[in-house]
Amino acid sequence: MTETTETHSDPVAAAVAASIPERCPVSDVTTDYDMFDADYLRDPFTAWAEMRDRCPIAHTDRYGGSWLPTKYDDLQAMAKMVPELSSKSPIVIDLPEALVKGDSTGYNAAAPITADPPEQNWTRRALLPHFTPKGIAAETEYTKRLCHELIDGFIENGSCDAAVDYAQQIPPRVIAKKLGVDASMVDDFIEWVRGVLELGLQQPELRAKYRDIIRDFFAAEVADRRANPKDDLITALCETEHEGGFLPDEVVIGMCNLQLVAGIDTTWSSIGSALWHLASHDDDRRRLVDEPDLWNTAVEELLRFYAPVTMARNAAEDVQYGGVEFKKGDKILMNFPGANHDPDHFEDAHEVQLDRQRNRHVAFGIGIHRCAGSNLARMEMEVALKTWMERIPEFTLSDPDAVTWAGGQVRGPRILPVTFS
Ligand code: HEM
Repeated sequence: MTETTETHSDPVAAAVAASIPERCPVSDVTTDYDMFDADYLRDPFTAWAEMRDRCPIAHTDRYGGSWLPTKYDDLQAMAKMVPELSSKSPIVIDLPEALVKGDSTGYNAAAPITADPPEQNWTRRALLPHFTPKGIAAETEYTKRLCHELIDGFIENGSCDAAVDYAQQIPPRVIAKKLGVDASMVDDFIEWVRGVLELGLQQPELRAKYRDIIRDFFAAEVADRRANPKDDLITALCETEHEGGFLPDEVVIGMCNLQLVAGIDTTWSSIGSALWHLASHDDDRRRLVDEPDLWNTAVEELLRFYAPVTMARNAAEDVQYGGVEFKKGDKILMNFPGANHDPDHFEDAHEVQLDRQRNRHVAFGIGIHRCAGSNLARMEMEVALKTWMERIPEFTLSDPDAVTWAGGQVRGPRILPVTFS
């Protein structure tokens, strides 16, 4: 199951959950952790603390086997182990060989995140200028309007699902605008991305199906921009020069795929987790109303505490590190969220402190693959939360037991009913 409750009002997630066989209970989190276990999804913090004390680089045989580092310094070191720890397959569960596509044709499905240097360097360089504060100025104005429009749609009702009706609606529209694709396809984009990163994680055929849908969609968009250039990111990538020519179609298709996939679940999860926190912690919610100067540190602290993204590496060779040996091909989960809770690095790491001053969190990763969209993500989070709090300063969970959390690759609430006055 990818959700914490057996019964939920998310029919797609429910159908997928029902099709996944029951798993044995976890015997010991340090040797048998289960990234889809209901308790772990709801509260991974307790499991990480136990691992850090007893076995800071834990292992499981579940889902093809993986290692889970939990200490900040280990994550820092491992992120620098390039190319020994390769990014070619960064999803936490590998697809079976028969469903893997790409390397044999030279086609990289989602560079730079699925690439090692040197391909990672030049694909990343092509993206970065479009995600500077100046590069996202048009999206900032758009996001402000969008957040107000979404709230206009439910504020009179006195209640809404803050995940479905709000958090989930923002990132797909923003990234659709940036890419220059049809924003009325937002429901499709959400379905596709959940198919790849959430519901398809344990269902390889589902994941491969949505991977192909996204690829075919962008293949058509790229062909269109080659013929009819527009003022959008797809056109800009088509016109980016590399080694005396333009970026090849397959590279641009992969990069667009990455923007859609990296841009949606992640930010939606961060906004949703922050709203869950504010709905369930009255003091923090009221403090933000009384002390608006806290917004900068508050957004960073909510990013630290509820960091959503775990990416993976595969050992390209046998590697010794920290008393363990990763065998060639082993999967290592880059537990950036766990590093953010390491008490050796963060004072009172288990507490959300909205005014935390020293906060070198790693929610956006570390090193060469550090999030290329972090300016956009921070902007979306800040605008979404500030606009919500301006319009709905008092709100609370209407049914705490109805809240469901997705996890594995990207952790965040998927059902989040709230009421407000
Ligand atoms: C709160 C929201 C987000 C979080 C927490 C997040 C987190 C991350 C993390 C942890 C990585 C590192 C991956 C690794 O080490 O393998 C990453 C990479 C990346 N992210 Fe984000 N991300 C967010 C939003 C976005 C957005 C909105 C975009 C753009 C649309 C984006 C684009 C990327 C790209 C292109 C990479 C790959 C960079 C590279 O491999 O060089 N992300 N992100």
